[in-house]
Amino acid sequence: LILTGAELETRLAQRDDTERCEFEIGCGSGHFACAHASQNPQTLVIACELKGERCRATAERARRAGLANLAVIKDRGEDLLQRFPKESLDAVHIYFPDPWPKARHRRRRVLRWMNLVRMVECLRLGGQIRFVTDFHDYALQARMVAALHPQLETARTSDFDADALSRYGPRLQALGKSIDHLTATRVSTVAVAGGDLQLFELLSGSRC
Ligand SMILES: C[S@@+](CC[C@H](N)C(=O)[O-])C[C@H]1O[C@@H](n2cnc3c(N)ncnc32)[C@H](O)[C@@H]1O
Repeated sequence: LILTGAELETRLAQRDDTERCEFEIGCGSGHFACAHASQNPQTLVIACELKGERCRATAERARRAGLANLAVIKDRGEDLLQRFPKESLDAVHIYFPDPWPKARHRRRRVLRWMNLVRMVECLRLGGQIRFVTDFHDYALQARMVAALHPQLETARTSDFDADALSRYGPRLQALGKSIDHLTATRVSTVAVAGGDLQLFELLSGSRC
């Protein structure tokens, strides 16, 4: 169940084009990835996570559930995005990503402009980026960069059940924290001029 980046490319190359494929960045111990793979047996779910122990926990959870449609990769989500062919993904899931709250660390966030541009390239038409955070400042950044991308339509909702599918959900609810949701759908595949992308990069700020 645990793949390397190179094995992921082989797995994707063997894939039938009609097979749905979704990617979760920062899956933690696999609460969402396993539940989602179980509810969607026809979908290939690729989950990535930086920490080896959490990758193993995700793989073990999937093994116990008998899931054959889930693969886990220990790698950075932004690096793995380079391995997916263009227009190959139906969804990118990012739930409670590390918030990097200090202003000077914002450029380390997973949902920042340059990564968003690559995510959109990887999405099929109608594919979605689904994002949830309890950091209001991160939610604003995500909404801003998504709104700037000309191929995305955004909504401040998602069908992610934070209480059921993240270990953070119940804890945050107990603390009375509010949780922001964002769904960004790819509504166009018409090429965006490089100059426009550079302008958007400028508008989103180098720190975003
Ligand atoms: C706050 S936890 C949330 C885990 C899970 N999504 C949940 O809601 O329970 C963020 C996770 O993302 C992982 N992570 C951080 N940066 C990452 C990156 N660039 N690529 C993949 N995983 C990352 C961390 O190791 C951590 O397990």
